[in-house]
Amino acid sequence: MKTLVTKRLILRDLRYSDLEDFYNYCKKPNIGPSAGWKPHQSIEDSMKILRMMITENEVWAITLKETDKVIGTIGLHVRNFDNAISNQKEVGYVLDDIYWGQGLMVEAVEEVLRYAFLDLELDKVLCGHSLANIQSKRVVEKSNFSYTHNEFRDHFDGSQIEIRMYELTKAFYLGGRTT
Ligand SMILES: CC(C)(COP(=O)(O)OP(=O)(O)OC[C@H]1O[C@@H](n2cnc3c(N)ncnc32)[C@H](O)[C@@H]1OP(=O)(O)O)[C@@H](O)C(=O)NCCC(=O)NCCS
Repeated sequence: MKTLVTKRLILRDLRYSDLEDFYNYCKKPNIGPSAGWKPHQSIEDSMKILRMMITENEVWAITLKETDKVIGTIGLHVRNFDNAISNQKEVGYVLDDIYWGQGLMVEAVEEVLRYAFLDLELDKVLCGHSLANIQSKRVVEKSNFSYTHNEFRDHFDGSQIEIRMYELTKAFYLGGRTT
């Protein structure tokens, strides 16, 4: 994946050597469930997920510029047939709770959107969060997405969870850009 740089972050390929950083936040009970996945039960769990992410090559490691420490991930995903034929992808993200509340994810999303529209030339980027996930709602709002609809998705515990879905079109993005 192309390395992307922001003021405080470097978004780069995940590596097997990131395993410890990755496990350290993926095991926390307050992170995965907000994004629909079960907290990792062991470092072996994290190794399997990390291997899958490296193979699929859709996700950047979010690293601190100063230390190269992995503090989260952000990805652009093709979730369904519609995405594939409509030149659109869905952005998904997770951040270690130690770093919440500093505007880091908005910074990462801004750069991924720039890449999505200007480099990949996507027509639309989608984003969704569960109804209870006010923190992600704020990231979506600050990133200028527009609400489209609610839909139900599988949660890791077997239940269905209601998701608020949003979109940002290339036309709106380019129209709203000041630089
Ligand atoms: C959603 C998430 C990525 C936000 O990242 P972030 O870099 O903290 O985002 P911001 O700094 O812009 O903060 C977003 C909001 O959360 C609030 N917030 C920060 N820390 C918080 C905390 N510990 N508890 C509750 N709210 C908090 C902030 O005040 C902010 O709201 P504001 O803009 O009205 O002030 C992060 O909370 C996260 O990874 N959560 C778990 C996984 C997840 O939900 N992923 C998204 C799935 S859709």
